[in-house]
Amino acid sequence: MKATHFYDFSPKEDSFRSDVLKGLSLETKTLSPKYFYDQRGSELFEQICQQPEYYPTDTEIGILHENRTEIAQLSGTGCELVEFGCGASKKIRVLLEGLRPKTYIGVDISREFLIESTNRLSSDYPWLEVHGLCADLCEPITLAKPSDGQRIGFYPGSSIGNFEPDDAIEMLRNFKSLLGPGGTLLIGVDLKKDDRILTAAYNDSADITAQFNLNVLERMKGELGAVVDTSAFEHRAFYNERLGRIEMHLVSTQPQRIEIDGEAFLFEEGESIHTESSYKYTVSEFQALCWRAGYEALKCWTDDDALFSVHLLRVTGG
Ligand code: AVJ
Repeated sequence: MKATHFYDFSPKEDSFRSDVLKGLSLETKTLSPKYFYDQRGSELFEQICQQPEYYPTDTEIGILHENRTEIAQLSGTGCELVEFGCGASKKIRVLLEGLRPKTYIGVDISREFLIESTNRLSSDYPWLEVHGLCADLCEPITLAKPSDGQRIGFYPGSSIGNFEPDDAIEMLRNFKSLLGPGGTLLIGVDLKKDDRILTAAYNDSADITAQFNLNVLERMKGELGAVVDTSAFEHRAFYNERLGRIEMHLVSTQPQRIEIDGEAFLFEEGESIHTESSYKYTVSEFQALCWRAGYEALKCWTDDDALFSVHLLRVTGG
């Protein structure tokens, strides 16, 4: 088997600790969704993607598959492909034969998971040079200029929705310096729609999303030695129409405390930790956001039911 290269900029355990201490001290207790993705969390997320209610994964794969030839034509072959938040690196497989990139760089925060998925990709595509880069997408990433050819970014799954719109713009600006002038970005974005469909997607009947949400408390116990009664928290997810986002919370079912490093964080009954926001955009809302970040829209594809969108963007000059 051909070797994959692995670069490790994984966040320190300390940043989890300090972010949890900070987040639980806020008026509205909050944790960043990036902390969902330890090994167990990444596995649970893969299971979420297979739940019948969670339409984004299959819908996006369908859009990519249907338009793979045009995507390759517009993006150009022989490029260096960087996937942000690559997870199990499944979606990119739909595009690889058409795009025929020279190099694939998978970027993800979940270290062991990334090593496994880039190794799998490498052995399944012997002609492809595969690299893994363990990094937190919230921090700017730098890579040496591609040896030749263009760089194309791939940011699937509507992961951009995890960021407040202003932070999303900042991140897209960071991607720009990595993609370089004339570089392109292929990005999947979940669309605004009937909130019954949205709500169901985050409340699957097999309760996988609930386990995924609650797993962050298990992680606090395991990695931080937190004292917490996980059975006294429950998963809640709803669509916040005014802000255009799904919100996930861990709701305390009774008055209780979480203890970390001798510090106590008190909860009233019904008080929650806000663990995730997942913003939804119309096509034109998202194009306006990209324009502010310094990209022009080359093309946007959606499915027939207008559930999900895939945008191809190009870095504008200057
Ligand atoms: C990976 C951020 C796109 O927001 O839909 C799925 C994560 N959370 N179910 C999303 C998630 C609950 C997912 N993203």
